Amino acid sequence: MISTRLILVLPLYALGFLQIAIAWPSVEPLAARASPDPLDSWLATETSTALQGVLDNIGSGGANTAGVSSGFVIASPSKSNPDYFYTWTRDSALTLKCLVEAFVAGNTNLQQTIQQYISAQAYLQTVSGLSGGLATGGLGEPKYYVNGTAFTGPWGRPQKDGPALRATTLIAFAKWLISNGQSSLANSIVWPIVQNDLSYITQNWNTSTFGKTDLWEEVDSSSFFTTTVQYRAVVEGNTLAKQLNQTCPNCVSQAPQILCFLQSYWTGSFILANVGTSRTGKDTNSILGIIHTFDPNTSCDDSTFQPCSPRALANHKAVTDSFRSIYNINSGIAQGSAVAVGRYAEDIYQGGHPWYLCTLAAAEQLYDAVYQWNKIGSITITTVSLAFFKDVYPSATPGTYSSAYTPTTFANITAAVKNYADGYMNMVAKYTPNDGSLTEQFSRLDGTPLSASALTWSYAALLTAAARRSSVVPASWIDSSLNSTPSVCVATSATGPYSTATNTVWPGTPPATTTRPPCTTPSAVTVTFTVLATTNLGDTIHVVGSIPALGNWNINNGVTLSPAAYTSSNPVWFGSVSIASGTSFQYKYINQHADGSIVWESDPNQSLTVPTDCGVSTATINDSWR
Ligand SMILES: *[C@@H]1O[C@H](CO)[C@@H](O)[C@H](O)[C@H]1NC(C)=O
Ligand SMILES: *[C@@H]1O[C@H](CO)[C@@H](O)[C@H](O)[C@H]1NC(C)=O
Ligand SMILES: *[C@@H]1O[C@H](CO)[C@@H](O)[C@H](O)[C@H]1NC(C)=O
Ligand SMILES: *[C@@H]1O[C@H](CO)[C@@H](O)[C@H](O)[C@H]1NC(C)=O
Ligand SMILES: *[C@@H]1O[C@H](CO)[C@@H](O)[C@H](O)[C@H]1NC(C)=O
Ligand SMILES: *[C@@H]1O[C@H](CO)[C@@H](O)[C@H](O)[C@H]1NC(C)=O
Ligand SMILES: *[C@@H]1O[C@H](CO)[C@@H](O)[C@H](O)[C@H]1NC(C)=O
Repeated sequence: MISTRLILVLPLYALGFLQIAIAWPSVEPLAARASPDPLDSWLATETSTALQGVLDNIGSGGANTAGVSSGFVIASPSKSNPDYFYTWTRDSALTLKCLVEAFVAGNTNLQQTIQQYISAQAYLQTVSGLSGGLATGGLGEPKYYVNGTAFTGPWGRPQKDGPALRATTLIAFAKWLISNGQSSLANSIVWPIVQNDLSYITQNWNTSTFGKTDLWEEVDSSSFFTTTVQYRAVVEGNTLAKQLNQTCPNCVSQAPQILCFLQSYWTGSFILANVGTSRTGKDTNSILGIIHTFDPNTSCDDSTFQPCSPRALANHKAVTDSFRSIYNINSGIAQGSAVAVGRYAEDIYQGGHPWYLCTLAAAEQLYDAVYQWNKIGSITITTVSLAFFKDVYPSATPGTYSSAYTPTTFANITAAVKNYADGYMNMVAKYTPNDGSLTEQFSRLDGTPLSASALTWSYAALLTAAARRSSVVPASWIDSSLNSTPSVCVATSATGPYSTATNTVWPGTPPATTTRPPCTTPSAVTVTFTVLATTNLGDTIHVVGSIPALGNWNINNGVTLSPAAYTSSNPVWFGSVSIASGTSFQYKYINQHADGSIVWESDPNQSLTVPTDCGVSTATINDSWR
């Protein structure tokens, strides 16, 4: 499909900055800047390598996508240690968000890839998995096989950021369709998919069902990243609805409450990235949330944690400082100079090294902030952000510095912040191999690339950071009518509507070549047993039954259930097992006490026939202990 190397269209680097220099001759003369910046020339090559790296990982034409269906994005070609050869809703949406931006900025070659992604997402919304079906939580399923079938192995699920990120990406493309006279396509193809995702968010943003709510797939409690991208999605979803003569009343009812809840992550000095963990809470998850909710047309608003807001800058310092002392490659780097950035200081995954996409996010937030200050025409330093500014501009004091009245200070501060941001880019440049490939991590000891190869998200992160550095920004999304927080936050949700997005054929494009499977009866179904059983500490619930998968009634060979979602008000035990479709069998739950003694459920035996429905590969059984 895409064999030629595509060049991302970017305007001149640092255009915004040069304009300031021209307007205010009191700053350093232009001639002093004439020698080419090595970062400019590295990025000129690296952005085209990164764009090709992204396209190589998108089916069905990408170089690394044998067996991948049309429009599906693989996280990485790596199939072992770690195995990332799957399609994640999150990674795919963030990758396509970057491609939609590049498309809107002028790279028209990307249109077909974007359309194939959208069609693939319409299909994925119909795939039932262990998180449920379309209207029953299934949109929270985090990852799928690359042929679009459900992944039914153990995983942290559901994950609630995926539908929000996908909605934002689709909305960005819908806006382009609308402004190019193709509202009917936005209405018929894109809106039905977006509407389902908006329904998922408005229904589930505040529910505490077991599931990994953070983007690193590790934490079960609420996550700043997830809440902030959910707020953005419902706000711009409502705007899109209005433009298409649709409505999203649930967006209107939930948005203020999501924004209200978002405020609770602010500690007074940094963002508590995940609620209720034993970690410090300083986590690049917050910086990623900030860059993915950047609005280039708004003030340095604290409530939405805009990149230039005092809160977001204080948080940038708190998070990046947490990596200064823990990585060998950061040793000796002075405060106020950029460091390598990882996910969070306590991280041990794959060695817990710095990540390219985290270091790039630290740069991107600062480029966004510089863009906002230039647009607004002033910088306000508050007591909250003072320590951030002092690191890069030691004489900083609280106050407002406008480009009109204090042009030199304004120009010096923006230059210092841009220079600091360039430091993060240079850190990435320093530890990128000569071929420009980007893995997931690089060694904390010596910067050697580590973990998954050719990580799609690393490439997308490089592209968006480089675009922001060049003042190429995404569309505005904030709606002032949904931007005030209620005086009291309340727990709430709103349900529906959901409907299958059936129209996936784009006019004027050849039918997608696809390896997508036809709908067939699965040979086996993953049956999840859930039973409400009030138990005491030390008890374990098992399910045993008349088939080998359930131990042939042998109490030692049944399926042991998990109490991971057990609460006193909802004492649920659950566990899954794969059983051939159509199998009929009997079963009972047993309670094994700490001393090994067994209590059986009362008679009669329960019985079940595993479904044989076309395309249905999961079934959930809801029992109560008898
Ligand atoms: C739901 O919202 C309420 C009010 O903002 C908040 O106190 C509670 O922690 C939220 N719970 C979850 C799981 O989001
Ligand atoms: C929405 O309705 C208005 C008024 O009826 C109409 O002018 C406009 O074209 C419609 N827009 C779309 C996208 O259908
Ligand atoms: C930017 O904001 C101004 C006022 O805040 C508004 O009038 C204008 O329409 C916005 N532009 C975009 C592109 O959203
Ligand atoms: C701005 O930077 C220039 C060049 O480094 C310096 O000479 C000048 O004193 C600075 N002015 C302010 C107000 O920071
Ligand atoms: C889809 O891919 C998975 C994993 O490779 C495989 O187990 C399954 O059989 C495939 N399904 C079809 C219909 O090809
Ligand atoms: C339950 O199944 C077991 C094993 O087949 C059998 O011995 C027992 O009689 C059954 N109980 C009832 C009440 O049918
Ligand atoms: C069990 O509950 C889940 C979640 O409410 C539902 O999706 C499923 O259909 C139920 N199973 C049966 C067999 O009713």
